Amino acid sequence: MSNKAEVILKEIFKNTKIDKNWSFDEYKRSETSKWTNCYHRYPAKFIPQLVEKLMDEYIHINNAHINDPFMGSGTTIISAIARGYQASGTDINKIAYLMTKVKAMPIEPNYLKNKIQEFLYQIEKIDEDDGLFSANNNLEPLIPEKHIERINYWFNEKNKIKLGKILRIIYNEKDENIRDFFKVAFSHILKNCSIWLQGSTKPTRDFKKNPMTPNKAIVRHLKKMERGNKSFYEVVPNSVKNRINNYLNIKCDDAKRQHVKDNSVDLIISSSPYVTSYKYADLHQLSTIWLDLSDDLTEYKKEFIGTSYKKYKDKKLKSQIAIDIVDIMFVKSPKMAKEIEAFFIDMEEVFDESFRILKSGGRCCYVIGDTKLKGVNILNAEVFAECLQYSGFKLDRIIKREIPSKILPQKRDEKTGRFANNDNANSEAYPVEYIIIGRKT
Ligand SMILES: C[S@@+](CC[C@H](N)C(=O)[O-])C[C@H]1O[C@@H](n2cnc3c(N)ncnc32)[C@H](O)[C@@H]1O
Repeated sequence: MSNKAEVILKEIFKNTKIDKNWSFDEYKRSETSKWTNCYHRYPAKFIPQLVEKLMDEYIHINNAHINDPFMGSGTTIISAIARGYQASGTDINKIAYLMTKVKAMPIEPNYLKNKIQEFLYQIEKIDEDDGLFSANNNLEPLIPEKHIERINYWFNEKNKIKLGKILRIIYNEKDENIRDFFKVAFSHILKNCSIWLQGSTKPTRDFKKNPMTPNKAIVRHLKKMERGNKSFYEVVPNSVKNRINNYLNIKCDDAKRQHVKDNSVDLIISSSPYVTSYKYADLHQLSTIWLDLSDDLTEYKKEFIGTSYKKYKDKKLKSQIAIDIVDIMFVKSPKMAKEIEAFFIDMEEVFDESFRILKSGGRCCYVIGDTKLKGVNILNAEVFAECLQYSGFKLDRIIKREIPSKILPQKRDEKTGRFANNDNANSEAYPVEYIIIGRKT
C-alpha cells in the first residue's frame, strides 16, 4: 500500500462515527447469555445479538454456511446452528473447542433431564463435608497424577478429592455427548472451587478465599445448563437436530487451516486474539490440567496467536501500517516489536485463508479494537482493514461500535496491553471497537 493509500485509510477511520445501532445496550444479561451461551465463562466473548445482526444484514438464503476461525466459546457457531445454517470453524484452545462442541449440540431435554438426575444421584453420595471418608468412599478419585503439582497449587485437599470423584463419575458416563456436557459443567466450576483470585483473569492465588464445595457448585450449574439446553433445543430446526453432523464442522486447529472447501462459505464472523493480551492457555489451565487436555503446556502455548512465544525470522509483513507500528515499538522494546510483527503476520495468513474459503460475494467480518502498548498506538483495526485488501478483499464497510460497560469484558493496562482487574487498569479498555468487513468480489 502506498503512503497515500495508508493516509487515506487512516483518515477513513478518523471520520467513521459510532453507530449506535451496534451497541446493543438495551439487552439484559439474560438475553446476552441466552440458550447455551450460559454454559461457561470466556474472556472477550461476543454477544449473540451482534452475530445475529450481521447474519440479518448479509444472509438472505436458507442454506447458508457460516464460519469462525477463532470460535472461542462458540457464539457465532451457536447462532448459526440456531438458524439452521451450516457452521464451521476452529479454535486452537482445547477447552474452547470442547465448549463450542457442547454448546452447539442440542440434546433432547427429557433425555438430558434423566441423565442429570442419574448423575446427581451419584454426586449426592459424595459426602458434603468430607470427600475422603464418605459413603462413596470406594469411588476412586480421578486425579491426573502428572499434573498433581499444579492441582495441589490451586486446590485444597478436600476439594481435590471431591473433584476427583466427580470426574470419575463423569468418565463413567457412556454417552459421549452427555459426558462432554458434564465435562463443560465441571470445567466451569473449577475456578470457584479453587483458590484462584475471584474476578481475576490472571492466574493469582488468594489464600483468604473460601472455595465453593464442588458438589454444590456442579448441582447449581447443571440446573442452569439444563435450562439453557432446553431453550436452545426449542429454536434449532428439526432438520438440523436430526442430522447435526451434517451442519456442524468444527475442529481444534489453527485458524490458518479451515477444514472446508474453497469458495464454500457465505459469511465469516469472528474476533481474533489481541497481541500479548489474554494468555488463553494460562487462563484455562485449571481445565487443561483436570481434563488432561495437554501433555506439554509450554508447547501448547506456542500455537496461540498473539502470544510472546510467536516470533518469525523468515516472514515479512505486507501491511505498511503494521510495519510503521513495529518500527516505533522497536525503539521502546525490540522484543515486543517482534511479537507485534508475528501477530500481524499470523493475521495476514488467517485473512488469506478466509479469502480461500469464501464464496464470491461472501463477506468476512472481523471484530477488533485498537489498543496501546508501552504508549504506542496499536492500530489493529486499521491494520486489519489494510491486510484484508492484500488478501484480495474489497474493503466493504467499517462499523464503529461502543461496548456498553456492562458488556465490556475488562479494562486493559496501557503498559502491558493485558486485561487487568478493573480497578487496577490505568486506561479504558475498549470504549469502542470496530467491525471490519471485507467482501470477496
Ligand atoms: C477473542 S477470542 C474469540 C471469542 C469468540 N468470538 C467468542 O464469542 O467466544 C479469540 C480466540 O482465538 C483463539 N486463538 C488463538 N490463537 C489461535 C490460533 N492459532 N488458531 C485458532 N484460534 C486461536 C483463542 O483461543 C480465543 O479463543
